[in-house]
Amino acid sequence: MQKHTAILAAKIAEAHLGGGEKRIAAQHKKGKLTARERIDLLLDEGSFEEIGMLVTHRSQDFGMEKEIYLGDGVVTGYGTVNGRLTYVFSQDFTVFGGSLSETHAEKICKLMDLALKNGAPLIGLNDSGGARIQEGVVSLGGYADIFYRNTIASGVIPQLSAIMGPCAGGAVYSPAITDFILMVEKTSYMFVTGPNVVKTVTHEEVSSEELGGAATHASKSGVTHFACSNELDAINHVKKLLSYIPQNCEDKAPVYAYESNGNELRENIVVGFARIGGRSIGIVANQPAVLAGVLDINSSRKGARFVRFCDCFNIPLLVLVDVPGFLPGTDQEWHGIITNGAKLLYALSEATVPKITVITRKAYGGAYDVMNSKHIGADMNYAWPSAEIAVMGAKGAVEIIFKKDIDAAADPAQALKEKTDLYAEKFANPYGVAARGFIDEVIVPSQTRLKVMKAFAMLENKVVNLPRKKHGNIPL
Ligand code: HXC
Repeated sequence: MQKHTAILAAKIAEAHLGGGEKRIAAQHKKGKLTARERIDLLLDEGSFEEIGMLVTHRSQDFGMEKEIYLGDGVVTGYGTVNGRLTYVFSQDFTVFGGSLSETHAEKICKLMDLALKNGAPLIGLNDSGGARIQEGVVSLGGYADIFYRNTIASGVIPQLSAIMGPCAGGAVYSPAITDFILMVEKTSYMFVTGPNVVKTVTHEEVSSEELGGAATHASKSGVTHFACSNELDAINHVKKLLSYIPQNCEDKAPVYAYESNGNELRENIVVGFARIGGRSIGIVANQPAVLAGVLDINSSRKGARFVRFCDCFNIPLLVLVDVPGFLPGTDQEWHGIITNGAKLLYALSEATVPKITVITRKAYGGAYDVMNSKHIGADMNYAWPSAEIAVMGAKGAVEIIFKKDIDAAADPAQALKEKTDLYAEKFANPYGVAARGFIDEVIVPSQTRLKVMKAFAMLENKVVNLPRKKHGNIPL
């Protein structure tokens, strides 16, 4: 027996070395951790149970039969994060650049099947040169097997992708289907085709970082949800994110002792998680400091995606409204503000989680309807006394309906002011809508937290029965 256990111990030691010490040193030199070091940082100490450590590739071409690494470039298994079951795969760049072979894909698929059957989150730590070039088309099949499982698991278990190195070509579509993407600044990048292909096809000269680095995807494309300063920061973000979300769609988010938090992005809509009374909520808030908080294509899409995530995973929604309307202009119209704005409207309408709205200032026009109005299913609608709820801003309204009177007045500027004041007095307040019951209560700002907390507690057992359907057709 001793001989047998020694053989096993040698194999475990070999697997732990991945592609060997030289490649591990090269990985560290780039400022990157190894696949196993990342798992150690993510999971609770001693909780990791590895699956498939001894898997090897089956490739016989290009001398591959002589180059065998135990585990085949991906470490897979389960453990706990803050005591909660979590499945994780971590690509090992020291083995063929973390490239995806047939068996590498099989290991990830096996893990995804387990995560789905057992209803726990799946975390992917991506660091890969893409398809294993020596295997050709087999690895394409492997990718598609993963994409399919990502899709089936979507909305059932949370799926998070942390990009710790290259993620290029078709490989990007697995993270793209998952719920959240985190990228590490300077050492990770994502693109469908790299700088060389871009140069050949479009004659643009662009670096990897500029084309698909964390900053680009956080600020330009919106592909990534978090740009993290280093790998540890990314892993800590994963842990924090998990603390807000339930294990699966049948579960509720964990309840913690009172704490308040959130994250903010510089776009004209702010989305993020917070806790109120120790319970997770998702917040969608117009950001008046950027573009006056207007709804445009990007902010509508961003808001819609976040709302749908929260609804998938039973996270109640708080919508803070200060919106002057939709952004006008040819650029917005030609790029489809109609279809894209409809995404947010659709997402909030179909969401069945408890939904609360607080109008703090402006709620104008169609944006009033879209931002979780009573009419599209909000459960409780509050307004501050400063709220202005109207078809449009007072000046714009007056210029249309009193145009003739103003033009004919002896002092048009004075006439405009008088009419504007009159209109504002009538509509730029919350009382007209409160009289109609569109607002349930006008509250002073200092009462907001308490009111919202009590309302969420009241709504805790909310049940909504929607008509039977296969699935809706959100305007994509
Ligand atoms: C096999 C690969 C590999 C790959 C890297 N390696 N990518 N082996 N298949 N796809 C190996 C290298 O041979 C090298 O082996 C080791 O990994 C590290 O690679 P380096 O090039 O030394 O590292 P670095 O300089 O950091 O560059 C990383 C890289 C580069 C930018 C990822 O390796 C690269 O461009 N790789 C090819 C990327 C690619 O074109 N992939 C296929 C895309 S098509 P040694 O033995 O020296 O350590 C695709 C289709 C997916 O992915 C479609 C899905 C639907």
